[in-house]
Amino acid sequence: MPEQKFYLTTPIYYVNARPHIGHAYSTIAADVIARRHRLLGDDTFFLTGTDEHGQKVERSAATAGIPPQQFADEVSKSFKDLWDRMGITYDDYIRTTEPRHTEAVQKLFQHLLDRDKIYLSTYTGQYSIGEEMFVDGPPGTIGPDGKPTETVTEENYFFRLSEYQLPLIDLIESDDPEKRLLIQPESSRNEVLSFLRGNVAEATERGEILEVSASGKAYVPGALKDLSISRTSFKWGIPVPGNEKHVIYVWLDALANYMTAIGYGSDDPVQQEKFARYWPADLHLVGKEITRFHCVYWPAFLLAAEIPTPKSVVANGWLLFDDSKMSKSKGNVVRTETILDAFGTEVYAKQFPESTKKEQDLFGADVLRYFLLREIPFGHDGSFSFDAMITRYNADLANGYGNLVSRTLAMIERYCDGTIPSHSKWSSEQIVLIDPNDGSHKFFLVKGPQLAQASLAVQNFYEDAFKKYRFALPLDAELAKASKAGITDSAMFLVGQVDSFITSNAPWKLAKGATSGSATELNNVLYSAAASISVITALLYPILPYATANVWAQLGLGDIEVAAKNGELKNLEWGGLKPGTKLGTLAPIFPRADKGLAQIMVDIENPNAPQKSEAPKPSRFIDEQTTHTSPVPVDPTHPGAAPRTLVSTGVPGLSVAGSHAISTERTGTPSHLEAPASGPFANSAALSTIPDTPQIAVDDFVKIDLRVAQIVVAERIPKADKLLRLEVDLGYERRQILSGIAEWYTPEELVGRKIVVIANLAPRKMRGLESHGMLLAASHGEDGKPVLATFGEEIALGSRLR
Ligand code: ME8
Ligand code: MG
Repeated sequence: MPEQKFYLTTPIYYVNARPHIGHAYSTIAADVIARRHRLLGDDTFFLTGTDEHGQKVERSAATAGIPPQQFADEVSKSFKDLWDRMGITYDDYIRTTEPRHTEAVQKLFQHLLDRDKIYLSTYTGQYSIGEEMFVDGPPGTIGPDGKPTETVTEENYFFRLSEYQLPLIDLIESDDPEKRLLIQPESSRNEVLSFLRGNVAEATERGEILEVSASGKAYVPGALKDLSISRTSFKWGIPVPGNEKHVIYVWLDALANYMTAIGYGSDDPVQQEKFARYWPADLHLVGKEITRFHCVYWPAFLLAAEIPTPKSVVANGWLLFDDSKMSKSKGNVVRTETILDAFGTEVYAKQFPESTKKEQDLFGADVLRYFLLREIPFGHDGSFSFDAMITRYNADLANGYGNLVSRTLAMIERYCDGTIPSHSKWSSEQIVLIDPNDGSHKFFLVKGPQLAQASLAVQNFYEDAFKKYRFALPLDAELAKASKAGITDSAMFLVGQVDSFITSNAPWKLAKGATSGSATELNNVLYSAAASISVITALLYPILPYATANVWAQLGLGDIEVAAKNGELKNLEWGGLKPGTKLGTLAPIFPRADKGLAQIMVDIENPNAPQKSEAPKPSRFIDEQTTHTSPVPVDPTHPGAAPRTLVSTGVPGLSVAGSHAISTERTGTPSHLEAPASGPFANSAALSTIPDTPQIAVDDFVKIDLRVAQIVVAERIPKADKLLRLEVDLGYERRQILSGIAEWYTPEELVGRKIVVIANLAPRKMRGLESHGMLLAASHGEDGKPVLATFGEEIALGSRLR
């Protein structure tokens, strides 16, 4: 058994309603951490589950008109089913209505009674049903859930929480990592400490005597009151042993799950051993609204029971929707299922029609995992939007990592017979990463021993970021680029670096064998790129388990889960990728997502809302066409027809909101560039003959906005032999252009080239994709080969040609 154990938990979620992406957020973070610890070789135990007792659940069940247990069964299943669809690797799923839990909670309660940490008394107070807690204030006080509290008078069991004010402060403020309860982020720690210390300022004003904790900071003695831990006004809970008209306070019941799930209170020796092995928990991951329960009540119960306290509590921020916390009670939620379904069927299944539902789900889950962890600095609140998710997906995964993998492996397939090439020496060209601290050149990336250094640095950085739960940092290429932030070592930054490395070394030129050293150099370049990808992939595995498994297999490295288990994903050594490894079957990793997907997701969320579509309002002519079962080419003289326009003939992906999108692709003559049907830049396949084009005035010319742009992405479009999909950077914006140059240029040789774009050409749809702009090229030779206009000198992106 490995030396180190790591026990982590998510909150157990209330079963008052089905899960939304807020719950998925905490569970995803826990899964990423669990995977990371497993690959480091730790004996990891990851627990999640559902919190099924209490008045809130009882009332929800009553509203639904079914018994609470049946209600809990159904909702608990919907959480578990979701985690299974998402491939969450929990080791156990605890339900607080299971006997293993209820019996052990009664034992804990009895243990506290026996130790005189619990006593019986009466209590009148304001109770918030939504948050299941007593709150201070007069009747009608607005509770933390925004609703008025209810006055409750009860005979109650009380827990002597007041005895633990100083012990808790000392526990949290301790410098001893072995003893302290670490609370992160700092804001949550401060909130808990100020609750524990009481209102120091007011007490000082009233002239009260303060006391000082071990850290030297003042606190108001007596500020922490005893806590009511039983209820008599409803039944749905665990009965107090020996006094069954009371049920145990739902938070004491719920918090105990962290111990009952791993065998606390069990008579079974196997369970007892498990508890001895894994307790105390190393990490309770929670949402920030429940830190008080985890950092005050929970450790106090444990101190009272003389059970070791957890090592750390880490709070995630809130996912906001329409600027307020997404919550089941407010109803402003987004369902994870919507994202799995939309990305699964509209993106993944479109590319892989044979794929299983499971594969589609795991793909969708990867997209959500990446987005949430990349977009929201962990511990902070963050707004969720479908648009932002699609944009991030396309930029970082489809065009970034996925494109790099496809591009590199396609060249290895083509130039090296699908086998990882050997590498001999390293050429002198190097890529430099700048040290943010002093501006010095820190790493020389991608060449031989220097790449070893870079990959090590990135790994160290990852380890550090993970330790601090700063998941976004290693994924943030922009921050890395801004170098001052000190994170030149981000994996996504490496993606960009390796991309540039390929572009500057132009393997497609080396493949033409211009010099005697070309072949060696080609191997070196492709090996370096592939080795870098293997490092990046290993690092991204906890965050993108499904996609990285695919990349790993395509690299010819087999099953990434096995590699993780064998410790092959940690301490990656440069050169670990063996030359001679046969690539697996190549396939796209992250097919692009259309912007229209946002609307699809909105529609899934609001099935009854009137259907909106982002597609331009179809003309009457197109509407008529949709009534035909198989659309036919249209008579161009039809009054509604655009010149030389065909209605597409049922190409998959072209159907937009029930209508058939218009394709401007021409048949017959090879269509160069973006190829408008007419106008000054229509392809004329002109040879060097004297032009007989009509003269124009300067005014006409200045209407055409010609700009310098750089090609950042180039890829083939399935089922369109002539078209390439390009993304160009105009300096002030990035956009997509479809261009009919696939017969003459390979995608690899285009990326990085500076070209001229007609920037103010109206956008249009081709093959269901938007094309916005056109490339400038001269037609050369008899077959009219397009030769792209380019520059011989340094020129800034976006510069205008005039
Ligand atoms: O509090 N943003 O259960 P719960 C981020 N049963 N995270 C969110 C979120 C959002 N908008 N909404 C929910 C309970 N969460 C108790 C816990 S533990 C012993 C008992 C996540 O169903 C976040 O982790 O209200 C939050 O703490 C948890 O779900 C609350 O789920
Ligand atoms: Mg809640």
